[in-house]
Amino acid sequence: MLFTTLCGLLAVHSAWAQSSTVDAYISTESPLAKAGLLANIGPSGSKSSGALSGIVIASPSNVNPDYLYTWTRDSALVYQTIIDQYTLGLDSTLRGEIDNYVGAQAIIQQVSNPSGTITTGGEPKFNIDETAFTGAWGRPQRDGPALRSNALITWANYLLSEDNTTYVSNTLWPIIQNDLDYVAGNWNQTTFDLWEEVDSSSFFTTAVQHRSLRQGIQLANAIGQTSVVSSWTTQAGNLLCFLQSFWNTAGFITANTGGGRSGKDANTVLASIHTFDAAAGCDALTFQPCSDVALSNLLTYVDAFRSVYSINSGVAESAGVATGRYPEDSYQGGNPWYLTTLAVAEQLYDSLIVWNAQGSLNVTSLSLPFFHLFDSSVAVGTYASSTSTFTTITTGVENYADGFVATVAKYTPSDGELSEQYSKTDGSQLSAVDLTWSYASALTVFDARAGVIPVSWGAKGLSSTCGISTGGDTVAVTFNVDATTVFGGIKHLHLWVCRCPSKLGPEYCFAPKLCGLPHMEHYG
Ligand SMILES: *[C@@H]1O[C@H](CO)[C@@H](O)[C@H](O)[C@H]1NC(C)=O
Ligand SMILES: *[C@@H]1O[C@H](CO)[C@@H](O)[C@H](O)[C@H]1NC(C)=O
Ligand SMILES: *[C@@H]1O[C@H](CO)[C@@H](O)[C@H](O)[C@H]1NC(C)=O
Repeated sequence: MLFTTLCGLLAVHSAWAQSSTVDAYISTESPLAKAGLLANIGPSGSKSSGALSGIVIASPSNVNPDYLYTWTRDSALVYQTIIDQYTLGLDSTLRGEIDNYVGAQAIIQQVSNPSGTITTGGEPKFNIDETAFTGAWGRPQRDGPALRSNALITWANYLLSEDNTTYVSNTLWPIIQNDLDYVAGNWNQTTFDLWEEVDSSSFFTTAVQHRSLRQGIQLANAIGQTSVVSSWTTQAGNLLCFLQSFWNTAGFITANTGGGRSGKDANTVLASIHTFDAAAGCDALTFQPCSDVALSNLLTYVDAFRSVYSINSGVAESAGVATGRYPEDSYQGGNPWYLTTLAVAEQLYDSLIVWNAQGSLNVTSLSLPFFHLFDSSVAVGTYASSTSTFTTITTGVENYADGFVATVAKYTPSDGELSEQYSKTDGSQLSAVDLTWSYASALTVFDARAGVIPVSWGAKGLSSTCGISTGGDTVAVTFNVDATTVFGGIKHLHLWVCRCPSKLGPEYCFAPKLCGLPHMEHYG
C-alpha cells in the first residue's frame, strides 16, 4: 500500500518536473524570442540593417544559407503572430510594427516579378529593399497571398471592432482583395510547397488558401464588398473538397501530391495549427488539431523521426522528441528544426484547449493508437471531463506536448538564439542563425500552452458537397489524386472513389474517417 502510494507520487512528480522545466524555459525564452523576432524587422531592427520599414528578413544569415531576403510566407506568419499578440491584448506595443507591415505589403504586392504581375502573384521572395528577386527559384509558391490575407484580415476584424471601417475599406481591403482574387483564381494550379522543393499540390497551401477565402467572405460581407462573395464561396467549397484528397488511408495526411517521398511532413502539422479554429471543435473536415485525422497524422509524423535522429534514440514512444521537415530531408544536413518540433507541441496544446472547453474528448478507431500512448486500456468512446480517463489522457497529452518544448529547451543556447536547425547528433545549432520564423513559432506555442485562443475564421459547421454523383443507396465521391510513383519518375493517376451510405448525406463522404479503408475503392 505504502509502496503503491509512493510510486504514484513519483509518477506525478516526474510530470511536474517536465512541466517546471518548460515553465522556466518559457519565462526566459519568451522575451528573447520577441526581441529576436523584432530584431529582424526593418527599419529599426538591430539585425536587419537595410530592410525597409515593415520588411521581415528571414534571417540575418547572408551566406550558406543566404536568407537575407523577405519571403511572403515567413513575413505573413511572423505578422500573424504580431497581430494576434496585439489584438488579443498580449502586447500593446506592436501597433506601429503592424502599420509598417501594411505599408510594405501594399508596395511589394505591386512589384512586377519573375512570377508575373499582381494578378499572377505567388512570387516567394523579394529583396529587402522591396525590389524583385530575379534569380532562379522554386516559383510560384501560392501559399503566400493566402497567408498574407489571413494576417491582414485578422487585423481588419480588430479594426472593425474599433469602428475604424474607413481604414479597413480604403487601405486593407484592396490588398486583401488582390490576394484573394489570386487565391480564388489560381488555387487549382500546381505550386511549390512551403519548403520550396516540390512542385505539385500541397496540403499546407490548400489548407491556408481555404481558410483565407472563408475569412475573406466574412470580411467582404461585413464591409459590404459583396460582389466577390459568390465566386469566393464556390472556390472555398472546391478547396475544402480538394483538401480531403490529401488524406491517406494509412492514417496520415500525404503532404504533397508530388515529390516521391513518404509524404510524412511537418507541412501537415503546420497546416493544422495555422488553421486552428477553436469554435469548430474537433472537426475532421478542416483537420482541426484535436480531430482524429490530425491526431493520427501527428503520431505518424512524429514517429517517423524517432529512428532518423540519433538524439532521439532511447526516448520512449510516449515522450516528445526532435522532429524536422520530413524524414528524407537532406537540406543543410537534414536535421530537426525548432519550428517543426514546436508545431507538434502547439497542435497538442490547441487540442487541450478544445477538450477542456468542451468538457470531453472523443476516442475513435482512427485516433486510438494516439490515445494509447497515454492510456493503454482506453477504448473508443467519449470521455467527459469528470472521468478519470479524461484526466489521465489530458495529463498525458500535456506532458507529451511539454516533451517537445523541453527538447527545444535542451538544445537552445543560453542566449536564447534560435537558428533554423539543430543537429540530429548533438543538438548544436545549424543552418541559418536567428531564423525569424523560429522565434515566431516559440511565441505562438507559448501562447497556446497558456490557453490563448486565436480568433475564429469560420471553420465551424462547414460541409462539402462538391463532385457528388449519387447511385443507389450510396453516394460516390471521386477524388483524382495525382501521385508520383517512386519508379522511374513516371506520374501515375490514382483514382479513389468513396462510397458512404446516402442516408448519412453526401457531406459524410468528406469526413475522412468515414471514408476509411472499408469504403474506399482504388483504381489505377
Ligand atoms: C485606423 O487605424 C489606422 C491603422 O492603425 C490608424 O492609422 C488610424 O489612425 C485609425 N483611425 C481611427 C479613426 O482610429
Ligand atoms: C484541381 O482540382 C481537381 C478537383 O478537385 C483535382 O482533382 C486536381 O488535382 C486539382 N489540381 C491541382 C493542381 O490543384
Ligand atoms: C464527440 O462525439 C460526439 C458524437 O459524435 C459529438 O457530439 C461531440 O461534439 C464530440 N466531442 C468532441 C470533444 O469531439
